[in-house]
Amino acid sequence: MVQTTRLTSPEKIEHFDTLGSTNATAKQWLAQSTEADAIAPPFWIVADEQTEGRGRHGRQWVSIKGNLYTSTARRVRAPLSNLASVSLVAGLSIYDAINQATDKPLDLKLKWPNDILAGSAKLGGILIEAQPAPIPPSDDVCLEAATDLIIGFGINITSNPVVEGRDTTCLMDLGKRITRDQLLNKLTLTFNKWLEAWDNGTNIEFIKTEWLKIATPLGSELTVKCGSKHMSGTFIGLDDFGCLKLKLSDNTITTITGGELL
Ligand code: BTN
Repeated sequence: MVQTTRLTSPEKIEHFDTLGSTNATAKQWLAQSTEADAIAPPFWIVADEQTEGRGRHGRQWVSIKGNLYTSTARRVRAPLSNLASVSLVAGLSIYDAINQATDKPLDLKLKWPNDILAGSAKLGGILIEAQPAPIPPSDDVCLEAATDLIIGFGINITSNPVVEGRDTTCLMDLGKRITRDQLLNKLTLTFNKWLEAWDNGTNIEFIKTEWLKIATPLGSELTVKCGSKHMSGTFIGLDDFGCLKLKLSDNTITTITGGELL
């Protein structure tokens, strides 16, 4: 069932009791939406539970009632190379939203590309997907083609899934009692603030600087899994587009654009 709810945020938020995946629904709506449509972005979709919640790398995202499952859709005109840094924007937004909703202090950290940790345990994750916007190209040759971004947030509020080989936690177990809607209201505000600061990717340097302040510290030893390959090295920063830079044991520097940190 769909019911339009604005919670206390001025944003367009569609609420569902049950959905397969908020990301999947956002993608379907976007594929049909022209600029003038009621379902044109920006919008948010939130579900109490998901039956086919999706994590990164095609994993399942267990989505029982009580946690936050939401996706926002944005139509942007930015060079494709700028879009990787939207994951930093999303991380900064959820970090601020959780801190504001819970009145701190929580030992939150962002782990590249988009895990939210409390201490060393995973508190939530972000899944970003992109597709060309179904609108004709602009007559203005200076304008980039429009891309639709779907940014999905899954945050453990009252429960956390058991994941083999991985610590997970939820806000309730950390002594924070907040509702899903309190967190979503904050997130709609913090996301807009950081997306504006990102400025279609023209302000990546600032976003990178802010992200690094709250991320796993520089100098940490990290292992990245890319397909079946594992690569270990020292975290030395982000490249111009927000991708991970690792210094390997033979002193070469490699840039990781995708993959999973272990
Ligand atoms: C991860 O693997 O860490 C990312 C998890 C992202 C889960 C969220 S829940 C809301 C949105 N809808 C989905 O199907 N996935 C994302």
